[in-house]
Amino acid sequence: MSFSSLVSDLTYRDSDRDEKRSTLSRAKSYASTAATSVSISGDISSQLHGGYSHPLARAWQAERQLTKSMLIYPLFISDSPDEEMLIPSLPNQHRRGLNKLVAFLAPLVRKGLRSVILFGVPMAPNVKDALGTAADDPKGPVIQATRLIRRRFPELFIVADVCLCEYTSHGHCGILRDDGSLNNQLSVDRISDVAMAYAEAGAHCVAPSDMNDGRIRAIKLKLIEAGIAHQVVLMSYSAKFSGCLYGPFRDAAGSCPSFGDRRCYQLPPGGRGLARRAIHRDINEGADIIMVKPASQYLDIISDAKEIGKDLPVAAYQVSGEFAMIHAAAKAGVFDLKTMAFEATEGILRAGATIVVSYFTPDFLDWLSD
Ligand code: PBG
Ligand code: ZN
Repeated sequence: MSFSSLVSDLTYRDSDRDEKRSTLSRAKSYASTAATSVSISGDISSQLHGGYSHPLARAWQAERQLTKSMLIYPLFISDSPDEEMLIPSLPNQHRRGLNKLVAFLAPLVRKGLRSVILFGVPMAPNVKDALGTAADDPKGPVIQATRLIRRRFPELFIVADVCLCEYTSHGHCGILRDDGSLNNQLSVDRISDVAMAYAEAGAHCVAPSDMNDGRIRAIKLKLIEAGIAHQVVLMSYSAKFSGCLYGPFRDAAGSCPSFGDRRCYQLPPGGRGLARRAIHRDINEGADIIMVKPASQYLDIISDAKEIGKDLPVAAYQVSGEFAMIHAAAKAGVFDLKTMAFEATEGILRAGATIVVSYFTPDFLDWLSD
């Protein structure tokens, strides 16, 4: 119903009730009707501004609002205990040894940090080999950091990224055949062992990022066999696309492949159907959380993941390249860093994610109230 016909309808009912007043009111409403039809052309439902005129009303328009509990902060744990090194390609991010961890985390936990994801960075010479043996070394950075964080920050939820690329001499995410391709069976056997070692060390969640086929099922079965499946979250990097946005991360973690690339196991950037199949598969194999990565470039995949995995939380990884791009553009004066960080991250939530892995986490802890 248009606004002007609504007004004349009211006028008509008015005149029914009181003959005398009706002349007046008709005159009045005639005037207001005329004025209104000039200022509002079209349907009454065209009037939207009132619904978001107040800051709180604007907040109510969001289906989901960013809160601190949605955030997972990536930590690069060096095997050199006293290291605290700024990572040149990742603004404000450091590689830290065990001895620097507690002092760094304490103020973040006080500000509301709820979860971290751990990446091990072996710096010692000759520690890498073809099998990624160092990945589940009980004295290695991820297992040691897990134990330390569990002890010192019992409330912090620990995710362990599970992959071999930081630990293999060739830098690929699994065990290779002689021709340089991934040996899927050997890789899955090895990666599920590594996941078990992290879970047994106390990680609340294991998150395989290797992209070998069938690793979710293998990990789930080993968790069940060990009797800890009921207390470990299995988060799958299901839709992980290949591309250049992981560059700063590989710099930070020293995980760049020494030859070739990851295009035969990470998904091709246009592969929406493949991503959907991988999501279906990982849900069937026992994943508790589905992840999409990178985030802002793949909002369609995030919304696919939410549709396919209606009953699962969907996580999105705002990867190192996304973070570095926003920083670079903000530094060049293209936009304000905080405004852009919110726009990018809230866009990811709008697409359907309720968990965001983000290097902006320490900033958001300052910017958000809850
Ligand atoms: C390891 C891993 C990578 C990332 C998460 N886990 C790098 C890669 O696959 O090359 C990327 C994270 C980021 O770029 O922030 N497999
Ligand atoms: Zn990897």
